Amino acid sequence: MQSPHTAILLAAFGSRLPNASTALERMRERTCALYPDFRVETALTSGTVRRHKGAASRHGRSPEDILKALRKDGVTRLAVQSLHVIPGDEYRGLERLVDSLRAGPGHPDGFERIELGRPLLGNREDIRRVALTILTVLPPERLPGEAVLLMGHGTRGKANGVYLDLADELRALDPLVLIGALEAEPGLAAKVDELRALGASRVHLMPLLFASGVHALRDMAGDMAGEGKGSWQAGLTRAGFSCAAHLKGAGEHQALAEIWLDHLHEAVARLAP
Ligand code: CO
Repeated sequence: MQSPHTAILLAAFGSRLPNASTALERMRERTCALYPDFRVETALTSGTVRRHKGAASRHGRSPEDILKALRKDGVTRLAVQSLHVIPGDEYRGLERLVDSLRAGPGHPDGFERIELGRPLLGNREDIRRVALTILTVLPPERLPGEAVLLMGHGTRGKANGVYLDLADELRALDPLVLIGALEAEPGLAAKVDELRALGASRVHLMPLLFASGVHALRDMAGDMAGEGKGSWQAGLTRAGFSCAAHLKGAGEHQALAEIWLDHLHEAVARLAP
């Protein structure tokens, strides 16, 4: 039986591509199955994505809107789970929002309890666990001597250091598994140098993004012509590597999804009186 007073909100960056919402939908289904007595909602933290989808769409709603609606419906205890990869700007925005909605002396109509679950790579221990887990979800067709290059998003903020820490962990486990960032350093050029130094000739590309959206399809796996000509796959091909792109988003790999769900579990546990 669902309690009318407890809820879970899953907050993802979102994607303009309809197919990319599978990751979020799966996560919602799994959350509903794990927490049958909680009402489960989803929200998209990216304003750009929401505008693209049209404000009227159910999946175009912001965390602010959903949280207000939940409060209005009488929800008093709420766990918000970030489906972001790193504690970057999107996560920090969610954190500020959650903090502002906690009931207190100046805010009597806030939530009695509201807890936020950290992103995939939320702390040192997560980084280690994610590295170990990545090794279990590598493309099965990879042969000995072939490299894997993961593409993270990257941020200009200090959270970008998470990618460097993850790169170190991965290197220690398997020197041919690398990670770079699309919109920050170390970018593709640095990774090409590393791949050359390692003597790899074939590279498997994988996104380290929650869902397989525009960044995975166009910026990672885009082909040599048209929109994708600046993609990592095109760049690697031009640099002389043979390349295979694997499009599954991190949230679609069950073993990685488990880590986000464990963070949710911790947040839900903190709701207990
Ligand atoms: Co971006």
